[in-house]
Amino acid sequence: MAIDDLADKVLDIGRRRGFFWPAFEIYGGVAGFYDLGPYGALLKQNIIEEWRRHFIKRYPDLIVEIETPVITPEKVFIASGHVENFVDPIVGCKKCGRFFRADQLIEEKLGVKAEGKSVEELTDIISKSGLRCPVCGGELGEVRLFNLLFRTQIGPYQGSVGFFRPEAAQGMFISFKRVHQVMRNKLPIGIAQIGRVARNEISPRQGLIRLREFTIMEFEFFFDQNEPGADEYIDKVRNEKLSLITADMRREKIEEPQSFTIDEALRQGVIKTPWMAFWMYESTLFLEKIGVPRTNIVFEEKLPEERAHYSRQTFDQLVKTARWGWIEVAGHAYRGDYDLSRHKQFSGEDLTVRKQLREPVERRTLVVRLNKAVLGRELKDKLDSIQQQIKSMSPEVLKRELDNKGFIEVSGVRLSRNHLVIEEVVEKVVTISVTPHVVEPSFGSERLLYVAMEYALREKQGRLILSFPRRIAPVKVAVLPLVDNEKIVGMAKRIYDMLKETDLMVTYDDSGSIGRRYARADEIGVPVCVTIDYQSLTDGTVTLRDRDSWKQVRVHVDKLVESLRRFIYDNVEIEELGPIFFSEEKE
Ligand code: GLY
Repeated sequence: MAIDDLADKVLDIGRRRGFFWPAFEIYGGVAGFYDLGPYGALLKQNIIEEWRRHFIKRYPDLIVEIETPVITPEKVFIASGHVENFVDPIVGCKKCGRFFRADQLIEEKLGVKAEGKSVEELTDIISKSGLRCPVCGGELGEVRLFNLLFRTQIGPYQGSVGFFRPEAAQGMFISFKRVHQVMRNKLPIGIAQIGRVARNEISPRQGLIRLREFTIMEFEFFFDQNEPGADEYIDKVRNEKLSLITADMRREKIEEPQSFTIDEALRQGVIKTPWMAFWMYESTLFLEKIGVPRTNIVFEEKLPEERAHYSRQTFDQLVKTARWGWIEVAGHAYRGDYDLSRHKQFSGEDLTVRKQLREPVERRTLVVRLNKAVLGRELKDKLDSIQQQIKSMSPEVLKRELDNKGFIEVSGVRLSRNHLVIEEVVEKVVTISVTPHVVEPSFGSERLLYVAMEYALREKQGRLILSFPRRIAPVKVAVLPLVDNEKIVGMAKRIYDMLKETDLMVTYDDSGSIGRRYARADEIGVPVCVTIDYQSLTDGTVTLRDRDSWKQVRVHVDKLVESLRRFIYDNVEIEELGPIFFSEEKE
């Protein structure tokens, strides 16, 4: 299928067959908001379930899932840095009053990279190039920063500002200490969350790809930076390859990705921490499960000026699409100890974890001892206040002053070695405090839904088929009575009722010719149709028809559920379920 054609057909099938459409349509719609229809909602649920299975169910010793509120008080996002830094550059047209995202407008219209540039630089580019409003041709104003947080009020109190979270991550940082305790103080530990987030994007124009509200699937993976505990996991994937475009390659204008083994990427410092490499590899496997071939997955490193404020290193996971080119479906950020340290600082809670050392180590500390007899005699009623002040001062600073000047001065009182002694004390410690570091893989589920549809779409003999990987197909089985015969319909209904009680999503279709019904099922991606015909009435067998090969086999009703499960979940070929007796495919 030609590329443009493919892109158009995804949108067409999306709307026509009820996968997705612009939200608030009857009121004219609002950019950046989409509805998911019956099949879209099912497809998204299945992608989410696949994510859960892939990252959480397969790693129960490493990752747990939680759920935290969407509306979040302002102080959380002050601490997280979002109030200050979650901004995009905006430019308005002086004539028509429309606003545009300045860096994207420059990239689109002038073809130069502008992400990460300062507002002054962007204003300068716009005025020097004479760039005008793309809608009315009017003059553009100065670029300024626009905060993307959606603001609200919690309760009736004006001062109680809240925000709709722009990422689920802060919920995991804030509850880190509790989850860590509940999980018996395990480190490393990943905390996952799947939920709605919202970002007040300036001018979203890319359908499902840039939404103002969407479902994020992300986990924060906490580890001790000095002992990441990743070796046993990395050893299994050391020779696996990732396709990377590093920041250095981008600076040298190398656009072709380069293949690195995980071992090479870590040894050369291309990926800064082993856990990030490990989850990048796992994320590649996950995308394969939703139908993207490995050859169309690339990790592109962000330049420092493009990175989010919390990140020490970020790779965008890009997938090639027909409609939008390479798009980011996931971000992999090494957030270091930024978030826990900030929440520790702003909340006053100790968010460090105690780590048991294998061997005790000596810790040297300075201790200030006051000669209370002398101080009491000389300071009298000032004693308490001076003592308090000394306690609040750093022993290192006091020692330096005492060594340099022979005295220290507190509130105008000079104190010498007669008044206080500073000594080094050596103690053996068996535990230390660690602020864990974090890597974060973060996926947008609606983008994945779009990608899954694009990669699933095939055209065969003039018909459209959504060949989803079977596990994520919105509907797994269609039950079809061959003809409108009472006995056949009765048997078909009994089979339908039986399948409704299983975990297989099933539909029933008795309208129109069998060919039309197969075509309808193919178009929404139903992997297998169960057809009940005259033979079914005599020998209890039904036909199973494979969406992709159009081959049919016969299976006894007693084995139907088991056969369908093998087909859907174990991905066996249709011929493994019984001998082929018919195929619609023309030679
Ligand atoms: N937590 C990932 C993001 O903000 O995109």
